Amino acid sequence: MLALTVILPATSSIVSGPQLGWGSYNAFGVDATDGQVRDTADAMVNLGLASLGYRFVLIDDQWQSKDRDPETGKLVANPSKFPHGIKPLADYVHSKGLLFGLYSNAAEVTCSGSLPGHLGNEALDAETFVEWGVDYLKSDNCYPQGVDNTNVDKYTIAWAKSLWDGGVVQSPSERERYLPMVAAIEAVRPRRNITLELCLYGWDHVEKWASTTGDHLWRATQDIADNWPSVTYNLDCLDTDRFYDTSGPSKGWAYGDALQVGHSLSTSEQRSHFALWAATKSPLFLGFDLRGRAKNDSSVVTVSNRDLIAVNQDLNGKPARCVMGCTSKTTKVLCAEWWGGGGQRRELSAREPSLWPPRGSTKVEVWTAALSGGAHVVIVVNRADGDEVVKFDWSTDAMIPAGCFALYDMWAHAVVGNVTSPLDEYAPSAKLASHAHLAFRLDPVGLYPR
Ligand code: GLA
Repeated sequence: MLALTVILPATSSIVSGPQLGWGSYNAFGVDATDGQVRDTADAMVNLGLASLGYRFVLIDDQWQSKDRDPETGKLVANPSKFPHGIKPLADYVHSKGLLFGLYSNAAEVTCSGSLPGHLGNEALDAETFVEWGVDYLKSDNCYPQGVDNTNVDKYTIAWAKSLWDGGVVQSPSERERYLPMVAAIEAVRPRRNITLELCLYGWDHVEKWASTTGDHLWRATQDIADNWPSVTYNLDCLDTDRFYDTSGPSKGWAYGDALQVGHSLSTSEQRSHFALWAATKSPLFLGFDLRGRAKNDSSVVTVSNRDLIAVNQDLNGKPARCVMGCTSKTTKVLCAEWWGGGGQRRELSAREPSLWPPRGSTKVEVWTAALSGGAHVVIVVNRADGDEVVKFDWSTDAMIPAGCFALYDMWAHAVVGNVTSPLDEYAPSAKLASHAHLAFRLDPVGLYPR
């Protein structure tokens, strides 16, 4: 069938889509230093990542000294890691055309256990961030019960309230501990726009109260680890009704955690991970050491896919959902599992085993979302351990509305065929390899009214 008008994918226009950047945690753990951060900012520019829209440079936990300034009460940077303090580093990052982010925690101490968090100091810390030129705050969610209970229970789940409320809640609740910082960030907004990452793992129905301005993102998951089960577990946490209507350009974004691209996943796993994060409208934070990488490094090429970044930033802002073969719909995923520490899985369920029926898995999944201009994104991913046959109907399985579309392959960067819905099915002769995916964009070709 002849394509009359093909709407080609936008390239790099970044408006108010999910946040794009680099975060230090998956690359350097809690050990980031001034030199590493400067070199990373340089690399973001030199590798062309900055011009693709990756703007934030975020320093994670343990940038702080143990004690606040005894006279002013202000946070102080660890002098052995950040000998010039924070402001000169933020200035350097800004001089590269990038934005600067810092980490804190909605408790008295941070997640690594002994450094100061922001609870009770929200207004002062927001003022300090303005003074230093901070553009982004990641606010974590460990040790809600304060210093006396520090290291006793990092999470202190209020199970009774969680069961009643239908979502994990701590004690004191996330709402109680985060709203003062939400208000403090709002209060300084006339002087500095600070994007707030509510890193509270999707608990306490964050989507209902986090997005006052739209310049927010909320972690929907526990920590991602460098392995495929963790990536797909976090993916399933994004696929819920509660995030579908509550995230978007004027609302905020549900976040599957920073990318594990650039570490030990296979190349096709890295690509699938990136495509699925892009299509689900997760913010995209790179998490690997960019220093010394070349533009043609396969991980750099993966995260430089302009077509997928354009899908992520599409103005329609609707997250892709799983519509065929979905693990997330055949099993119960509570999104409270932790995969850190060398990829070992620990279930918070140990305290409430009845909440945790064993998860199954399916094979070929189809994920889709409507894009602006009548286009659609379709990601087909093989979650099985072996190669699988792919076969689906564009209309009944992939939920593509009636019409004619050019089928654009976002890795080949080319139109590879045409689709007429509801007539056509997709059934390639080649099997799809384990953990590999296909990333399509369907652009209306004008033969049908849109
Ligand atoms: C928590 C967060 C991580 C990271 C660490 C730092 O585990 O979820 O993203 O910030 O704390 O200690």
